[in-house]
Amino acid sequence: MPDNARRMNTELLKADALGRIETCRDGERIWIRRDTRAAHLGVRWIARAAAAREARVLGALKGVDAVPALLGWQAGVLERSFMPGIPMQQAKPRDPSYYRAAHRLLKALRARGVVHNDLAKEPNWLQRVDGSPAVVDFQIAWYRPRRGRLFRLLAREDLRHLLKHKRTYCPQHLTPTERRVLARRSWIAEAWRATGKRAYKFVARKLFGYWDNEGNGRVRP
Ligand SMILES: Nc1ncnc2c1ncn2[C@@H]1O[C@H](COP(=O)(O)OP(=O)(O)O)[C@@H](O)[C@H]1O
Ligand SMILES: [Mg+2]
Repeated sequence: MPDNARRMNTELLKADALGRIETCRDGERIWIRRDTRAAHLGVRWIARAAAAREARVLGALKGVDAVPALLGWQAGVLERSFMPGIPMQQAKPRDPSYYRAAHRLLKALRARGVVHNDLAKEPNWLQRVDGSPAVVDFQIAWYRPRRGRLFRLLAREDLRHLLKHKRTYCPQHLTPTERRVLARRSWIAEAWRATGKRAYKFVARKLFGYWDNEGNGRVRP
């Protein structure tokens, strides 16, 4: 937003090798910016590809409540609407209605051909001011309007991650069906546990110098 850049205030939310996340304010207006221009040189192309993916996915989710609206994607800067709320690791949602609404939200994503793929991380879940859930961070999400077999498997993984959070904060309200979903691990989850998670942690720590648990948010494998 070059024309009002002079008046704009920014507040850093998170910074890592892939760039910066900032809250931007301009008078009454408030939005969230992912700035890949701040990414380390060697991995800037990864940061750009991930932000471009997020822009594409948010475009496909236009009008879905509880995900940020895409405001712009230009010159390595992605702008999303701000959703007032607090991340799951602070909110610790104990009300079963949170999980019912979150399940409906996952169904809405799926109906639009989107799986999130990063819902094990508590910081990607918000509890909004009215207590309802919201989801951010679509960098590794998939947009597949044809919703093939792998898509459906990944959609079940999204749900399993939600249920793991429910098991942590609201276990007495897990239904027998939900317990069965939790007990049944897909080959993707098994492969991830066996190798992928270790490789991911290695790359995250050695290459990017972080392991994503901003604000001490837990990551449920
Ligand atoms: N649209 C938004 N509204 C409110 N908070 C947000 C929004 N987008 C991001 N955040 C906050 O900023 C944090 C980092 O953003 P995120 O998109 O998850 O970046 P990263 O990919 O680096 O994890 C989130 O965990 C969340 O707390
Ligand atoms: Mg995140």
